[in-house]
Amino acid sequence: MKSAPIHFGYIAPILDQYLKENSFSSILFLVDENTHVHCLPILLADLDNLTTYEILEIDAGEENKTIETVNNLWLSLAELGADRNTLVINVGGGVLTDMGGFMASTFKRGIKFINIPTTLLSQVDASVGGKNGIDLEGMKNMVGTFTQPEMVLIDPKFLKTLEQRQIKSGLAEMLKHGLIQDRDHWDNLVQLLAHNAEDLAPFIMDSIEIKKQVVETDPLEKGLRKILNFGHTIGHAIESESLETEFPLLHGEAIVIGMIIEAFLAEQKGILSTEDREEICDGFASLYALSTIDLNLFPQLLTWMKHDKKNEKNAINFSLVNKIGACSYNVVCNEDEIKTAFISFNHWIG
Ligand SMILES: NC(=O)c1ccc[n+]([C@@H]2O[C@H](COP(=O)([O-])OP(=O)(O)OC[C@H]3O[C@@H](n4cnc5c(N)ncnc54)[C@H](O)[C@@H]3O)[C@@H](O)[C@H]2O)c1
Repeated sequence: MKSAPIHFGYIAPILDQYLKENSFSSILFLVDENTHVHCLPILLADLDNLTTYEILEIDAGEENKTIETVNNLWLSLAELGADRNTLVINVGGGVLTDMGGFMASTFKRGIKFINIPTTLLSQVDASVGGKNGIDLEGMKNMVGTFTQPEMVLIDPKFLKTLEQRQIKSGLAEMLKHGLIQDRDHWDNLVQLLAHNAEDLAPFIMDSIEIKKQVVETDPLEKGLRKILNFGHTIGHAIESESLETEFPLLHGEAIVIGMIIEAFLAEQKGILSTEDREEICDGFASLYALSTIDLNLFPQLLTWMKHDKKNEKNAINFSLVNKIGACSYNVVCNEDEIKTAFISFNHWIG
């Protein structure tokens, strides 16, 4: 399965040309309350070949990435008379593009959609690979499809209105790309003087290229693609647990913790040198505020980990870096090893 075409930069002429060349029975923009205000007007102002369209708005936030939201969207599509020749244009972060892609890929057995990711995280990560989906009772991305959008349109100017906390969340996935495949990318990002939207923009395509290369080698995640899950077995468990609290972590924030603990796990297993583990820890500590994890939560975190989609036959499967710039997958770890890595993390934080 080939990745969808990705266009980076000034995207309006590309969308305009596509709309001119293709005749759709209707066009629907899917937005949330933030992208409705900050992104859609910028996009619409530059489109000459768009006359009639509908806008569907959903509530922002991971807690809304559910079947209930998608059910309401399917109903709205039906009420609006959407047919198999309707085009959906998803304008938003990873929650919205994951859900919008799922909605479109299942409605009437699949209608065409375009993704316009507007957060750093969705531009560097969720934009590539054709994964769509929703969470199930807090379990991340449990239900979904592999369906490619018609194209992905990425304009870094959308990042101007994104909160710095969200930028740092996206940076986490860029750092992961460096750790699993490309030491230079990791070095470039860690050594940047400022980590704002403007300074990170030149590195967005590098991250996309790393992910694209991995995904095109193994589109359905039978093997190599699993390396993209580095930090995610533990990170998703922490994210799921935090979603049930008053102050949930952002996806990237949880993944940072997951990557550090999994680096300790890799060191314990003897596949990552202490030198590289320390460099990974120092790199993240220079960029993120970190705190210890309450070990009383460990049994519940383990339950979340057992739901991870990478697991086979009840074993918890990890993707672990074996040096900065390379990663192994299908590394089975037992509960004691995982707990020891959590304890090492807490000691390191002090
Ligand atoms: N499909 C994939 O391969 C893949 C990969 C990585 C992550 N994901 C998923 O992505 C999701 C996280 O995505 P996210 O970090 O983009 O979060 P998000 O979609 O929740 O967006 C974060 C916040 O930023 C707001 N926002 C979006 N664009 C904005 C803009 N330009 N200006 C101001 N505000 C803006 C949103 O309304 C939201 O409140 C998770 O659900 C994760 O599972 C999917």
